[in-house]
Amino acid sequence: MATALGAASTAVPGDRRAAAAAAFRSFTGLKSSGSVPLARQLNALSLSSGSSSSAPSSASVVRAVSTPIKPETAAEPKRSKVEIIKEQSNYIRYPLNEELLTDAPNINESAIQIIKFHGSYQQYNRDERGGRSYSFMLRTKNPFGNVPNQLYLVMDDLADQFGIGTLRLTTRQTFQLHGVLKKDLKTVMSTIIMNMGSTLGACGDLNRNVLAPAAPYARKDYKFAQETAENIAALLTPQSGFYFDMWVNGEKITSDEPAEVVKARNDNSHGTNFPDSPEPIYGTQFLPRKFKIAVTVPTDNSVDIFTNDVGVVVISNEEGEPQGFNLYVGGGMGRTHRVETTFARLSEPLGYVPKEDILYAIKAIVVTQRENGRRDDRKYSRMKYLVSSWGIEKFRSVVEQYYGRKFEPIRELPEWEFKSYLGWQKQGDGGWFCGLHVDNGRIGGNMKKALREIIEQYNLNVRLTPNQNLILCDIRNAWKRPITKALAQGGFLEPKYVDSLNITAMACPALPLCPLAITEAERGIPDLLKRARAVFDKVGLKYNESLVIRVTGCPNGCARPYMAELGLVGDGPNSYQVRLTLSQCLISPENYQNKLILTFNLCGKTDLARRDTKSDINSKNFYE
Ligand code: HEM
Ligand code: SF4
Repeated sequence: MATALGAASTAVPGDRRAAAAAAFRSFTGLKSSGSVPLARQLNALSLSSGSSSSAPSSASVVRAVSTPIKPETAAEPKRSKVEIIKEQSNYIRYPLNEELLTDAPNINESAIQIIKFHGSYQQYNRDERGGRSYSFMLRTKNPFGNVPNQLYLVMDDLADQFGIGTLRLTTRQTFQLHGVLKKDLKTVMSTIIMNMGSTLGACGDLNRNVLAPAAPYARKDYKFAQETAENIAALLTPQSGFYFDMWVNGEKITSDEPAEVVKARNDNSHGTNFPDSPEPIYGTQFLPRKFKIAVTVPTDNSVDIFTNDVGVVVISNEEGEPQGFNLYVGGGMGRTHRVETTFARLSEPLGYVPKEDILYAIKAIVVTQRENGRRDDRKYSRMKYLVSSWGIEKFRSVVEQYYGRKFEPIRELPEWEFKSYLGWQKQGDGGWFCGLHVDNGRIGGNMKKALREIIEQYNLNVRLTPNQNLILCDIRNAWKRPITKALAQGGFLEPKYVDSLNITAMACPALPLCPLAITEAERGIPDLLKRARAVFDKVGLKYNESLVIRVTGCPNGCARPYMAELGLVGDGPNSYQVRLTLSQCLISPENYQNKLILTFNLCGKTDLARRDTKSDINSKNFYE
């Protein structure tokens, strides 16, 4: 199938995209352990003062404050700069609409905040010296990582024609397209929209992509989890039309929403909505900060369920028929170095809801955060700080007022498992799927070409996993052999030939394009994994022994390093905090001591290996 793009433009002045791509390729890795200590600190945090945001001047615009609970206060509360920018943006339009029309290669500070809601970050190549060469990173939204055939092919084309020639699969089951120039933004965005894709709300202070298990199992609970992820995503999609105004001249291109979603969104029985607002749930101010939801089924923790603001777990009866959901609240990864009052946190149980109520319960949680989350200092604006400061009892009772019912007690769950879905597996409906390991989610070169050919030739649908991997779906028996061959030719190894360290490892994109990166992650991790394997060999551990290693270039934690057995969190040039976690879904305790010794070896801290630190660093007291 051919995918036509609106405009075919590849000639870029000064070819900045090529420079960015080259920077990625030319990176020669982290310095060896001999010259620079990889680990500067071992679970050690020190204090420093954080920045605080200035108080706004009061503006004569509609304020989004309506709640059945909070009393009116006379004093104008202190608000961060981003709150003022949102308020004055005419529902996420201004000044982006003006900034997009200028000849400058970049946009101003306010527009940078606004374009996030449209699913994009402004970036520049930090490897280049001298003037900044600006480009934009676009992130799609794909509930449960679902990518229809046509959308995959379009993204593949766009990466070549307008990006740096690679596609990046993210830890939130989405694509990131790096290196898009400002002048091409409208073409790229409109092409995605016309092909039933979206970047709306992939970044910004609103509900982000909703995770759910990517595997296309023909099982009632899996299908129900995926359908629920789609419905929650639809419920919390912005309604005021700013996205379509900006990129497709106001044409509203969406698929029909289920009636239950529309009904739940418009319901205002418990004072959740702004009745006359174009954004009935978000109002002018949207949420205080990003908001992340994951749905899953018991035992399948492919989504890192407890790291989300809200975790939703399908509960089925003995016949396998879904009945309702357990809800967990208050997870989140990001923290700020040297500010001890910021923390990564796992979510805790809120309660059980029958399946008909899920959208109302989610809305009640979102509204509780909307009304009570901190808007003065963005370091503390995630819902985890609200849950932590109120305590779960108070949080639950406020949510119940917006929900209009009491939560039932949480249902007991079996142990969690980490599922990667790699290799060939039966879907359960006569078809097969094939899970492919993609190092750090970066698809480029021969791999990209081979994948495209296979997906195009067999008209396959694709799923993206929260481990930055990819699943080819709906494969007939007769296609297995030729597809296996084509994959091998494209450089995809069968899972049994991939080093087990690589299978579970993740790194965020970090340098050269992420503006927040303090040090390397994606470009540094191959060296790091080689070193880990060398230590394994030295102490006589087998090839299939593994350790979950995750690396990020800053403490925002985009690759969820705080959930890894060994998490490396950049805190300076070539320097990382080392975070150790005993996470029940990622590690089997019997191997724990061995791994601990290995980890310390890896970090050059062999003297600590003899100490029994197990109880010091298990996830419970680590996160609290
Ligand atoms: C709190 C936890 C956070 C999570 C779970 C998260 C989630 C993500 C995810 C899934 C990605 C794609 C990365 C990958 O696949 O490796 C990403 C990238 C990114 N995140 Fe975050 N994020 C977090 C915090 C932040 C914060 C606080 C900021 C900014 C203030 C931020 C800015 C970015 C940027 C700029 C990128 C793009 C990097 C690039 O592709 O060049 N993130 N984030
Ligand atoms: S963890 Fe930090 S460096 Fe890595 S992508 Fe996220 S914001 Fe950028």
